[in-house]
Amino acid sequence: MSNATSTVETTLAARRIAELSDRARVCGLYDALGAPMYHDLATYDDPETRALLTAVRAAPGPVLDLAAGSGRFTLPLLATGREVTALDLSTDMLALLRTGLDRAPASMRGRCTVVQGDMSRFALGRTFPHVLLGTTSLSLLDEDGRAGLYRSVLAHLSDGGRFLLTVLERGDDDGPDETFVQVTGAGGTVYELYEHWPAGADSRAVTLLPAEPPQDDSPVTVCTDRVAVIDLPRLEEELAASGLSITSRQLLSPPGERHRVTLLTTEASR
Ligand SMILES: C[S@@+](CC[C@H](N)C(=O)[O-])C[C@H]1O[C@@H](n2cnc3c(N)ncnc32)[C@H](O)[C@@H]1O
Repeated sequence: MSNATSTVETTLAARRIAELSDRARVCGLYDALGAPMYHDLATYDDPETRALLTAVRAAPGPVLDLAAGSGRFTLPLLATGREVTALDLSTDMLALLRTGLDRAPASMRGRCTVVQGDMSRFALGRTFPHVLLGTTSLSLLDEDGRAGLYRSVLAHLSDGGRFLLTVLERGDDDGPDETFVQVTGAGGTVYELYEHWPAGADSRAVTLLPAEPPQDDSPVTVCTDRVAVIDLPRLEEELAASGLSITSRQLLSPPGERHRVTLLTTEASR
């Protein structure tokens, strides 16, 4: 959370953290404290999950789910009968995935391989007709990391295989620098979610905390992360330079919405 302090100094999220004073336990979104909160808010029946499930129907065979986290795509893919390799860096997120697999039927569990690894440099010794990087998680990597990701993906694509990735951009022209919403997790907890993302900025800061902390002095978990923003033209240049050709672009969000999400389908350039 190296940049969290400078971000929160000037924002609504910062004020909220200051109100909590010593009670605030600031952490990352995918570590031991943050992962359960992130997981509580994961949605499964959403446009991105549906689009990825539809896209992989184009070809049979195993799927590599990069930055798989607690399994938002891995579990539905397994449910459709696919063999899935789920790769993620965070032991805490993968522990949540393993819990989900333990609760799933043995036939589903048996088709999943869980790998702790870095998506910017992995070597699994096999290829896949589909490699996925959803949830706009590309933004978690810097330029070198993205170059390593493209190299690793190309080494893992079968002949004619496809790399599917989603990208997040600002889709509104005149929205506020910072937004605040209340969201309810699957377990019933209500959270405050702040996003500080001035138009044109090369990164955005996300802060998540419970809306109603206990009325005592107990610690309150505050997850905050700063992630990069990569616009589509720049990303398309990077992909082309790395040897990946875009075969389709699908807008997954309504026009004009603050979060414009695009699904790119790519394959190795010939
Ligand atoms: C936005 S979450 C998405 C998780 C899951 N796909 C979902 O939709 O819920 C991003 C994930 O990327 C993982 N991650 C971050 N950096 C990574 C890296 N270099 N390699 C692999 N995974 C990484 C985090 O641990 C986290 O689980």
